[in-house]
Order: sequence, then structure tokens, then C-alpha cells
Amino acid sequence: MPLVNTKEMFKKAYEGGYAVGAFNVNNMEIIQGITEGAKLENAPLVLQVSKGARAYAKHVYLMKMIEAALEDTDLPIAVHLDHGPDFETAKSCIDGGFTSVMIDGSHHSFEENIALTKRVVDYAHSQKNYVTVEAELGRLAGVEDDVQVSAEDSSYTHPDEVEEFVKRTGCDSLAIAIGTSHGAFKFKGEPMLRFDILEEVGKRLPGFPIVLHGASSVIPEYVEMINKYGGVMPGAQGVPEAMLRKAASMAVCKINIDSDLRLAFTAELRKHFVEHPADFDPRQYLVDARDGIRSMVRHKIVNVLGSNGKA
Ligand code: G3H
Ligand code: 13P
Ligand code: ZN
Repeated sequence: MPLVNTKEMFKKAYEGGYAVGAFNVNNMEIIQGITEGAKLENAPLVLQVSKGARAYAKHVYLMKMIEAALEDTDLPIAVHLDHGPDFETAKSCIDGGFTSVMIDGSHHSFEENIALTKRVVDYAHSQKNYVTVEAELGRLAGVEDDVQVSAEDSSYTHPDEVEEFVKRTGCDSLAIAIGTSHGAFKFKGEPMLRFDILEEVGKRLPGFPIVLHGASSVIPEYVEMINKYGGVMPGAQGVPEAMLRKAASMAVCKINIDSDLRLAFTAELRKHFVEHPADFDPRQYLVDARDGIRSMVRHKIVNVLGSNGKA
């Protein structure tokens, strides 16, 4: 099956009350771990690439490895730009074969966000294969590439803005801010998400796919493992899985996961080096890291997303 855009997979997810996992990829072992996990669970996938991932691995390497994964699995896979910062980056990803892009205008004013998003939508939708576009309204706290947003500067999405935004931009999905944040330190106290905002957005945009960023659960077993084998991550905390399942049963069709993959990869590497201090063969220690990614992805698909068997 060729790479697909997100149109059909989100339609099915909306109707089926589940979400598609959008996992960040940076190297071969991460791509293989994710796709092997999804293949075992027969789940559709979004493989997403940030500006930082493109700078680290180069667009062409990631693209070719994703094409190889596609041949290996035959799953519906969309390759998506995560947090596209500007028109030029989005255009370069579209021209380079991505089937979906995010343009993140959330740091701009409402009108500037609309103008930027619409410019990307016009280009993406004019492609022969219709590239889908995710936009963002509202601002998450946390770090992504060079942008650090403090909790004070973050802001929830205003439901009364979403209809006008979607209508004027023509975007295919919308990321909203309801209290999640990027990284492994998400909440100071008790985790809290604004489900009232998600519900209201769902009413204003019936049938329209909503995206949740910053949706890692920062699974405590992996944080403990990192701490046990020499790492230091006090106070790491993520979004409880029950909250994510609830969001997936509502209008959320895409759930973004990066930090949990990083934790699994790092925890397995740390464990490996402590247990095998003389090992210096990357094919040994990276196998453990790749297996860690595969188990994490299977866990997410079955216990959080509900996308198992939906490919
Ligand atoms: O939302 C951000 C993603 O976790 C990607 O992170 O920009 O460090 O690649 P990155
Ligand atoms: P996490 O940091 O919670 O994994 O969020 C990832 C994300 O939103 C990627 O866009
Ligand atoms: Zn994000």
C-alpha cells in the first residue's frame, strides 16, 4: 500500500471512537520499533517528523526508511511534518513526499495564524495526491525544537474561535490546547484536562478530527527504570492513560506521542549498559532500545488509542 494522507484514517477513527497514534521518528531503530509494533497490532499509523528530526537525520534518510517500513508492513501509514514552523518548511516536506503536514501558527495572532495556515492549505490541497493539513489553535506549554512556552504563556483553545478558523483556513484537522504539554514534566500538581473545552469544540465542529499534542503518559515504570540505572528524572509526570482513552472516545482522532518513546529507548539503553558493561556493539544495545519502542507502541495501541485491528 502506498503512503496515505490522514483523511480516511481520521474519518474511521472518529466514527469508531478511537484515535490513531502519531509517533515521532528520528532514526532507523525508532521507525522499525514503531512499525513492528503497529504491524503486530494491525493498527494504522502516523509517523511524524519534526524540524529537529529533519535536521538530525536528514529528510531523505527518514523518507527512505519510512518507505522501507511501508514495504515491510503494508499498513496505512501517513508521513507527517510535526510542528511545521513556516510555509517554506511545509512546502519542502510536501515537495519531498510527505502526505500530511502540520503548520503550527499557534504562536501568532488569530489573523496571522489563519493567513499562514491558509497559505499552506492552498499549496497542500493543490497537490495531485491531496496532502492533508493539521493546524493549531491555543498554545501548549513545554518545549518543541527551539520554542519554549512557559506555563504562564500557554493558553487554552477558545471554542468560539474554532468554526471560523476551520472555515477560513480549510484545514483538515485541528490541534487544540486543553491542558496537555510537551515533554516529561507536564503537571505541577494533580493532572487536569479541560474536557469541557474538548466537548464544546466537538459540538461546534461535528465530525471534524481533533488532535491532542503533548499526550505522553510518562509511564512511571520507565522513569523508575531510568532512575534505577543511573539517570536522574525526579518529578517526571504525564497524562493519565484513562484521560487519553476518554479523549480518544470523543473528537480526538490523533494522539501525539514522543516523550514516552524517548523514555523507553533511554531506559532500555541504560539498563543494557549497566547489565553488559563490556558491550560496545551497537547491534546489541540498539536491539534492546528498538524492542523497548516496539513494546511501548503496542501498549499505546491496545491500552490508550484503541486502534488495534483497525488498519
Ligand atoms: O512536540 C515536539 C515533539 O516532541 C518533537 O520534539 O522538536 O525535539 O524533535 P523535537
Ligand atoms: P509528548 O512530549 O507528550 O510526547 O508530545 C509529543 C508531541 O506533541 C509531538 O508533537
Ligand atoms: Zn506537539
